[in-house]
Amino acid sequence: VPESQPYRTAYHFQSPMNWLNDPNGPMYHEGVYHLFYQYNPYGAVFGDSMIWAHSVSYDLINWVHLDHAIEPSDPFDINSCWSGSATILPGNKPAILYTGIDANNYQVQNLAFPKNLSDPFLRVWEKYTQNPVITPPSTVDALNFRDPTTAWQGEDGKWRVIVGARNGHEGMAILYQSEDFVNWTVHLSPFYRSDSTGIWECPDFYPVSINSTNGVDTSVHNPSVKHVMKASFQVNWHDCYVLGTYDPEKENFIPEDDFTGTNLDLRFDYGKFYASKTFFDPAKNRRILWAWVNESDSSQDDIEKGWAGLQSIPRQVWLDKSGKQLIQWPIEEIDKLRDKQVSINGKELISGSIFEVSGITASQADVEVSFELPELESAELIDPTRVDAQLLCSEENASSLGIIGPFGLLVLAAKDLAEQTAIFFRVYKAQNRYIGLMCSDQSRSSLRNELDKTTYGAFFRIDPNLKKISLRSLIDHSIVESFGEEGRIAITSRVYPLLAIDKEAYLYAFNNGTLNVGISKLNAWSMKKTQFDDEQSFSYSL
Ligand code: FRU
Repeated sequence: VPESQPYRTAYHFQSPMNWLNDPNGPMYHEGVYHLFYQYNPYGAVFGDSMIWAHSVSYDLINWVHLDHAIEPSDPFDINSCWSGSATILPGNKPAILYTGIDANNYQVQNLAFPKNLSDPFLRVWEKYTQNPVITPPSTVDALNFRDPTTAWQGEDGKWRVIVGARNGHEGMAILYQSEDFVNWTVHLSPFYRSDSTGIWECPDFYPVSINSTNGVDTSVHNPSVKHVMKASFQVNWHDCYVLGTYDPEKENFIPEDDFTGTNLDLRFDYGKFYASKTFFDPAKNRRILWAWVNESDSSQDDIEKGWAGLQSIPRQVWLDKSGKQLIQWPIEEIDKLRDKQVSINGKELISGSIFEVSGITASQADVEVSFELPELESAELIDPTRVDAQLLCSEENASSLGIIGPFGLLVLAAKDLAEQTAIFFRVYKAQNRYIGLMCSDQSRSSLRNELDKTTYGAFFRIDPNLKKISLRSLIDHSIVESFGEEGRIAITSRVYPLLAIDKEAYLYAFNNGTLNVGISKLNAWSMKKTQFDDEQSFSYSL
């Protein structure tokens, strides 16, 4: 492991070393947040003996790494312990359902419980002796049947859980029911399906309030909620979701739209953000989303630096007022990390100009900007055949010339701009509406080649009465998480600049459009580092 680690993050969740992927079983239990995650104890690449690592926190910001919670041990999980979820049973007793790769390499669902409920950190987990509790039905591929969700309880007292599966190109969620959480019977196969997505990894199924930003427990069912069905698609490495109505009596889910496996699906994030999972946080009545953010450097780089993979900043999720999409926003606890601040108010971002936002640690920052578009009516006409936002962002990149935009931020930029990651907007006019394009352009993020520099993007509507666009970017050494329009769009990217590291990273605002845009306000903060402790050093600080 090299001594200098300019790409390790300061306030994102990371393991001390090695490979990590999916968040597993996130939960809140008696004052403590738990995060388990897929981890390879033997190296910085995905492994054939994956385990559940375990960390705890009081604030979702500072973490204590504990001993591993679930490791291969028995025929039902001897070849790996893959993803799964936690459910809090009556009496405040957590249970974990996870996928075991069994001695035949089949995927089966297993159960584990805390050994000692009076241990506040729930350090030791015991596997149910009669595992597996669910085996693959004959209708699906036994090598693709995994990732049980958090279970929910109906008014009839029965528990329900869904498991992701595949049959050829078809992807699906299969529903199981149980009276006692131990004996599960397949109820509907499939509960909900899609034609051409392949395996549904890490499904997530939960209610969201129609009229409130508050979250609700996974078992809540009443007229004031809609349901979210999310799946992770290997066909395009995106986490997509549909909204719909769940009817527990008929035990069916009626989506408002269907999954297509294309860029028409609603996505949580248009960049790197996979295998996400939510949990209900009763302490603050909110639903929180975590996801694995994978790498853009090579496996060889990962082996050299000794680690791979991050967890996203936890995001609060709720239903937008329109009822048509979810909103995501970094949990409020992140604001506690804001340190030195610079503010710019009422500045004209002149056509063709660029200026430095100086005075903060640009490699470790939180930036919020509100842009004003006084000349919205003069936006260029959109070519109606260009419907792929990601493609449009890479063809009309940050250095191309437009009318309103491209404008935005250059983050993790070298002083001479030889390296820059552009988070930018471009505004278009269609027949009777205005369309914004939000992009995260990694094409010039590093002087190094052999990196994944895919540019990401998404469309959104611009309200002609408001004429403004907002952006927040969380910058943390090798990750940029950007939120457009107060959380209507999220784009996460991983970047590995050669020059723009630590104190050599700069932050700029730019405008390559022919029209000026306004910055009504820009606030940027240096961010503090969070604490990651092992248990011993932590007990000293208590
Ligand atoms: C998603 C996934 C899951 C599986 C786990 C294995 O990234 O492939 O479907 O359970 O990772 O680590």
